[in-house]
Amino acid sequence: MIERTLSIIKPDATARNITGEINGMIESAGFKIVAQKKIKITLDQARKFYEIHKERSFYNDLCEFLSSAPVVVQVLEKENAIADYRALMGATNPENAEEGTIRKSFSISIDQNSVHGSDAPETAFNEIRFFFSEIEIVG
Ligand code: CMP
Repeated sequence: MIERTLSIIKPDATARNITGEINGMIESAGFKIVAQKKIKITLDQARKFYEIHKERSFYNDLCEFLSSAPVVVQVLEKENAIADYRALMGATNPENAEEGTIRKSFSISIDQNSVHGSDAPETAFNEIRFFFSEIEIVG
């Protein structure tokens, strides 16, 4: 089934000018980037986006990091996009990520792990809607 997933290229990656390299990996893996924009989100927006993690010890640091510098948010489309993008990203902690994954290639640490991807269909729907309106998504 053709799916859409929400991807974020995080501040550690935009700061190092590797958005293009990451997009190259995404496109080589067969994803279509059907929406994309570079934005700087506020701390409040980051807190809302990551609300699911609000009880976790890393929540405050995570939200401060995501709002610290520009991010690139994008909608990726492909057969099985949600699981396939998580596979392409690699493990959350780059120490555990496999060779050839985005996080193994570029991440600095579990906090500065370069990319985010939705984890399930309902999350993908909500995360896409958080950042994009329907007319910004072009198949
Ligand atoms: P992401 O996929 O964006 O989802 C939540 C983020 O929290 C995760 O990537 C990590 O960057 C960050 N994080 C920090 N510590 C942890 C942890 N112990 N477990 C999971 N995520 C963590």
